[in-house]
Amino acid sequence: MLLNKSIRKRLSKLEETEYYPLEDTEKMIARLNLNENFIIDGEKMCQLASEALEEIDVRLYPNTEQRELVKQLSRKYGLSGDHFALGCGEDQLIDILISVFGRRNRVISIIPTFPVYRYRTLFHGGVFIGVPLNEDFSLNKEGLIKEGKRANLLFICSPNNPTGNQFPKKVIEEILSKVKCLVVVDEAYVDFAEYSVYPMVSDYENLVVLRTFSKAYGLAGLRIGYMIASPRVAKPIATVAQLTYPVVNLALKMATKLMQNDELVLESVKHVREERDRLYNELIKIGIDAKRSQTNFILFKSPTDPERFYNDLAKSGIVIRNSGMFFGNHYFRVTVGTPELNDMFIQVVKKITKK
Ligand SMILES: Cc1ncc(COP(=O)(O)O)c(C=O)c1O
Repeated sequence: MLLNKSIRKRLSKLEETEYYPLEDTEKMIARLNLNENFIIDGEKMCQLASEALEEIDVRLYPNTEQRELVKQLSRKYGLSGDHFALGCGEDQLIDILISVFGRRNRVISIIPTFPVYRYRTLFHGGVFIGVPLNEDFSLNKEGLIKEGKRANLLFICSPNNPTGNQFPKKVIEEILSKVKCLVVVDEAYVDFAEYSVYPMVSDYENLVVLRTFSKAYGLAGLRIGYMIASPRVAKPIATVAQLTYPVVNLALKMATKLMQNDELVLESVKHVREERDRLYNELIKIGIDAKRSQTNFILFKSPTDPERFYNDLAKSGIVIRNSGMFFGNHYFRVTVGTPELNDMFIQVVKKITKK
């Protein structure tokens, strides 16, 4: 039987919608395009996962593990449990926020930034409005306030992907105090940076902070993230908008364990920061215009023809993220890897740029 007209129409619409393309990284020696954490001790993570597996029962729904993690978050942040909502990665929480508040509505963010805000807005039939950063990568505060006054949702990624800089607390607070929409501060990379804006959730009902275990905590494969917001916002998201069991028990258990024994995470964050600064210095030494970063990646201007540069790296088994053009320059973003991966990247870049 042929599909009915309404389904065909919806499928055609989906086929036309932009989405997040996955690069083929299978044959790559170094996948430095997704900002994963290669530095956190893989063996110890494996050991922790085995312990976690022993402590859970995969036959059961994860009620207990969910409560355990919320308790742990509550303790860490000094906020009651109703300030949190868990998600299957931050991506899923971004999607829920847009589906609840941005559907067929205007969603505001900055340019350049994490593209998922735009992709999910388009999927939910909304209009994405990007307010370009200033050329020094600072926020165009007035522009964001103006647009925020005519929307329900405003996403600010801080530190920002791909520029790598963290926006001042004061500027974010000024925006929060001048708009009535939800201001979602995506702090996926905050553990590598200087401060979090989460304490402001007690003062601003319109602040939502998003966090992930994919970066500093090294759990990208287990898909787990969370939201911190006033109970007015977090509670209906956690109870009504979110699915009953969005996160699997192994992910919940691992996240709880890592928070309880955070030396592993703190050690890896320290190491990532050291490697990041070394990689930055090496790039500068080669004459590449790299940007200082408060994340686990570095943005830099393409040193040669962008297409050739990208392909030459790929031929050597290295994939990085093509961040495209902004402010008249072509940019790439590279994840901070292990010292060996970073050395390999630097050696190949040296070779390519000498050609
Ligand atoms: C800014 C930002 N937010 C969210 C995510 C996705 O996080 P998660 O893995 O928790 O879905 C990423 C992943 O790269 C990111 O760069």
